[in-house]
Amino acid sequence: MTQLDLTGRIALVTGGAQGLGEGMAHALARAGAKVAIADIQDDLGAKVAETLGEGHTFVHLDVTDDASWEVGVAAAIEQLGGLDIVVNNAGVEITSLLVDLDPEQARTMLDINVVGTALGIKHAFRAMRPGGPAGGGGTVINVASVAATIAFPAISIYSASKSAVDRLTRVAAMESGKLGYGVRVNCIYPGLVPNQMGANLANDVARIGLFGSPEEAVGAVVELTPSGRLASTEDIADAVVFLASDQSGFVNGVGLPVDGGMGM
Ligand SMILES: NC(=O)c1ccc[n+]([C@@H]2O[C@H](COP(=O)([O-])OP(=O)(O)OC[C@H]3O[C@@H](n4cnc5c(N)ncnc54)[C@H](O)[C@@H]3O)[C@@H](O)[C@H]2O)c1
Repeated sequence: MTQLDLTGRIALVTGGAQGLGEGMAHALARAGAKVAIADIQDDLGAKVAETLGEGHTFVHLDVTDDASWEVGVAAAIEQLGGLDIVVNNAGVEITSLLVDLDPEQARTMLDINVVGTALGIKHAFRAMRPGGPAGGGGTVINVASVAATIAFPAISIYSASKSAVDRLTRVAAMESGKLGYGVRVNCIYPGLVPNQMGANLANDVARIGLFGSPEEAVGAVVELTPSGRLASTEDIADAVVFLASDQSGFVNGVGLPVDGGMGM
């Protein structure tokens, strides 16, 4: 069996202190990459970097803050010796019906999910384009969601933010190509994963009264999924490793569903 090999590559994963980002960091490290965990949760992030083993690191990085990106990317390059892969994974979901929409919560989601991803692309390009401090080109992988491709109740702003990630991805790939940055940009649409974020969503839609219980909500998602199950952390991480690898070398500007067929 051919293994995807990332030996010698250096990756930065935002939101890597827990959940899917942590899983991606482990998968990238297993494939041979050196990984910088980038997160606002310093203790947890440092612990994850430690469990990855020697040669990996943690950098404090708030994805909504331009200056924080500047410092975080510079630190990762200095500590690991370069940058080839940026995974814009940090994201938040706050469940609400539109009739109850809290504008502050909406802005928080747009700030982290959309502006955070855009800033990640900006700083990845600046670092990896010719003449940048890690100027050998590379890949950017943005984490959208199956929510960008379906209409599930009570996640309107989250869905809108992930649709924006999809468009950002395509425009970024075009800019990179036209301007000769040598950076591929793709995104993934993960299906529902039964982790903290996934459980919160199931609890929220039950609390709102859209489903009789969290279990019923999860059952409805499974029912809509041809593969007949929820996604695992490993399912999502494997797709990231593929998009980071040379085996996806001519895959650019696309969104890859990793949702068991649930999305459209
Ligand atoms: N869990 C799911 O079912 C699911 C499904 C589809 C897509 N996604 C997407 O996958 C990504 C990861 O989700 P998860 O389930 O691991 O969520 P999670 O809540 O477990 O982890 C999110 C991570 O992002 C970090 N983070 C939040 N704000 C940040 C900021 N401003 N700067 C830096 N880091 C920040 C958090 O500290 C945390 O470590 C998100 O973009 C999410 O929208 C999740």
